[in-house]
Amino acid sequence: MKAVQTETTGSLENLRLVDLPEPQAGPGEALIRVEASAVNFMDLMRVKGLPFDVPTPLPFVPGAEVAGTVVALGEGVEGLEVGARVFGASGQIFNGGWAELTTARAAGLTPIPAGMTVEQSAALTVVGASAAIALIEAARTAAGETVFVPAAAGGFGGYALQIAKALGATVIAGASTPQKRQAALDLGADHAVDYRAPGWTEEIAQLTGGTGVDVVLEGLGPKHLGESLSILAPFGRAVIYGVLPGYGAIADVDALTALVNDPSQAQSVAGFNVTHWLTRRRQAALGAVGRLLGWIADGTVTGPRTTSLPLTEAAWALSLLERGENIGKTVLIP
Ligand SMILES: NC(=O)c1ccc[n+]([C@@H]2O[C@H](COP(=O)([O-])OP(=O)(O)OC[C@H]3O[C@@H](n4cnc5c(N)ncnc54)[C@H](OP(=O)(O)O)[C@@H]3O)[C@@H](O)[C@H]2O)c1
Repeated sequence: MKAVQTETTGSLENLRLVDLPEPQAGPGEALIRVEASAVNFMDLMRVKGLPFDVPTPLPFVPGAEVAGTVVALGEGVEGLEVGARVFGASGQIFNGGWAELTTARAAGLTPIPAGMTVEQSAALTVVGASAAIALIEAARTAAGETVFVPAAAGGFGGYALQIAKALGATVIAGASTPQKRQAALDLGADHAVDYRAPGWTEEIAQLTGGTGVDVVLEGLGPKHLGESLSILAPFGRAVIYGVLPGYGAIADVDALTALVNDPSQAQSVAGFNVTHWLTRRRQAALGAVGRLLGWIADGTVTGPRTTSLPLTEAAWALSLLERGENIGKTVLIP
C-alpha cells in the first residue's frame, strides 16, 4: 500500500511516498481503508522532531486521524462491523493515517455523522474534540459569556468558535489577515480582530465595554499570554492549549504576578491537553465530545472548512501549516 513516511525527523523534505506492507488489525483494532486523513499541528511537530508528549518511533508514518471504511477486525472487537464508515484517531500513537490502509483502536471509532462529509469527519477528532473539551470542561463556558478564540480561521480555532457559539457565548475571533478574519466571521464569530497586531487588547476592551472576556483561549504561547490575561474579566478563565514557534520562552511574569497579586478578580489560568483529559477525566471528556456530535448532527456546528490534497502533497500541506498560511483544515486523500 502507498503511505507517506519519514525515516529521520528534522525536515519536511524527508517525507517520501513509499510502498509498505499492508498493516494487520491486532486485538481490539480495526483495519480501515482510508478515505481522508487530516493534517494537524502534531504531525508537523513530530516530522520536524520538535518536543511532543507522545513518542515518535522511526520510520514514522504521520497522520493522527482518519475517516474511511472498516475492512477487517482484530480479535475481541465488538459493536463494529466490516463495511462501517467511521472516523477517529489512527494507530496506537496518533500515527499511520497518511496511507491507503491504517489500523485504529476500534473503541475509539465513531460512525461518520449524517450530514458530514468524509473530509470533515477526518478532521474532527484532534481539533474538534479538543476544542469541545477545552471550552466545556476546562473553561466551563456558560451561556451569555464572552469568549476570545485565537487563530480562529484555523482548525482548533474554527471548531472552538462554533462550539462557543453553540454554548450561547458571544465570540471574539482572533486572526492575522483580513481573509482569515472574514473566514472566522463566516463560521459565526460575532467580531474578529487582528490578535497579533499591537493594540489589539484595546480593541477587545472597546468591544466588551471595558469589562474584558470571560474565557480566553491561548494558542500562541507564553509570549502572548500576558496580552491574553490582560483582556480577562473578573472571574475570567484562561486556558492554554498550544505553544507555536516564536511564542515559547519565558512567560509574561508581570501578567501572572498581577493576576496572583489581585485575587479579588477571581481569575484562573489552566493548562490543557486533550490526551490527558481523555485518559484521566474520560467520562467528562466523552460527555463534551458527545455534545459536539449532537451539535454536528443538528447542524449547529459544521467545523472549519476543509481543503483536500493528494497524499503526494503531504510536505506542501505541512509547509502551509508551518507558515501559518492554512485556512481551516487540510485533509490528504490517498
Ligand atoms: N492542547 C491540546 O490538547 C491540543 C489539541 C489539538 C491541537 N492543539 C494545538 O492547537 C494549535 C492549533 O492546531 P491546528 O492544527 O488547529 O492549527 P491551525 O490553528 O489550523 O493553524 C495554526 C494557526 O496559528 C496561527 N499562528 C500564529 N503563529 C504561528 C506560527 N508561528 N506558526 C504557525 N502558525 C501560527 C496561524 O493563524 P493566524 O495567522 O490567524 O495567527 C495559523 O493558521 C497547535 O498548537 C496544536 O498543537 C492542542
